[in-house]
Amino acid sequence: MNAEIVKVELGERSYPIFIGKHLADALLDFLQKYVDAGRPIAVITCPALPKEHPALFEKLNAVARVSVTLSVDGETAKTPQELVSIWEALAQARVDRSGVIVAVGGGVVGDLAGFAAASFLRGIDFIQVPTTLLSMVDSSVGGKTGLNLSSGKNLVGAFYQPQAVFADMHLLSTLPPREFAAGMAEVIKYGLLGDAALFAALEKAGKLGWDSPELPGIVRRCCEIKAQVVASDERETAKENGRALLNLGHTFGHAVEKVAGYGEYLHGEAVAVGTVAAAMLSEKLGYAEAGTLVPSCTALLGTNALPVRLRKPLPIESLMRAMASDKKVRAGQLRFVLMRAVGDSFTCGDVSAESAQSVWEALNG
Ligand code: GLY
Repeated sequence: MNAEIVKVELGERSYPIFIGKHLADALLDFLQKYVDAGRPIAVITCPALPKEHPALFEKLNAVARVSVTLSVDGETAKTPQELVSIWEALAQARVDRSGVIVAVGGGVVGDLAGFAAASFLRGIDFIQVPTTLLSMVDSSVGGKTGLNLSSGKNLVGAFYQPQAVFADMHLLSTLPPREFAAGMAEVIKYGLLGDAALFAALEKAGKLGWDSPELPGIVRRCCEIKAQVVASDERETAKENGRALLNLGHTFGHAVEKVAGYGEYLHGEAVAVGTVAAAMLSEKLGYAEAGTLVPSCTALLGTNALPVRLRKPLPIESLMRAMASDKKVRAGQLRFVLMRAVGDSFTCGDVSAESAQSVWEALNG
């Protein structure tokens, strides 16, 4: 098989991430043990993908007992209603406890199908086939699954690890450039949070595309970092650092998504603005030397066609209120991931509202 393998080490729940190009046959080989044992296979995807990757779906449909296509593409599919439709389809196809769900799609499909796998018959096997850069380096790895309520994003969910992840660069060939760029925000995040050499490699590579020869190695490095972080703090319970480091840029970013109106910024675009905000705050509070973080973050995000400030001014009180209601707030205190330097990050609960507000003022439109 022409894939590299990164292992997520979680004892009995350990699993491989296969990273390479043209992995359909490797995926089918992996599924063969289910086929041989007569175990039902359920494929879950979103409407756009079967048309974009007909050869993959032809192979999958040949072994699947049932195929479920979400009713819409995008974040609006992550609803309780959609989950009920998946459960019903699985039940009608008589998928039993020996079954496996194969989730083919981006973060929405992975989160929803993962939660369906966690909850159907109290848990069945689950394989992730991420089709966006963002889901390859982030959401498909580490077992966060869930859905949105009208009261907020990801309010229902479970930690539920897959049996395997297949990150096939070829599936990125149909990804719109804006979505690819959004994934790059999470890639850049890994360099900033824990790997200065990765950050330097990204600076050297310039603007990447799905067929850049460097991409599989870069995805591999991101998955290694994520696997390491998840292995050390699977359920994000560490008091400091741990899995929360993966939220670099996200406290600010979630506020941008919410206040601008969901859909206005792609998640990765909001994270890009949030990353610049985190760099500014780190310098402002004196954790990083002035001028050592903001220019390099801004330059690398800009090279990858990502926004580095708010596109249009947003009300600062609303941004501050949105941050205060972020899921990650502990005991009413805002928590941020800050940096001492590229590759050296830490969680910090000791940030005044005034400091955060001054960063918004600097980035506002
Ligand atoms: N996306 C952050 C995490 O998986 O913890």
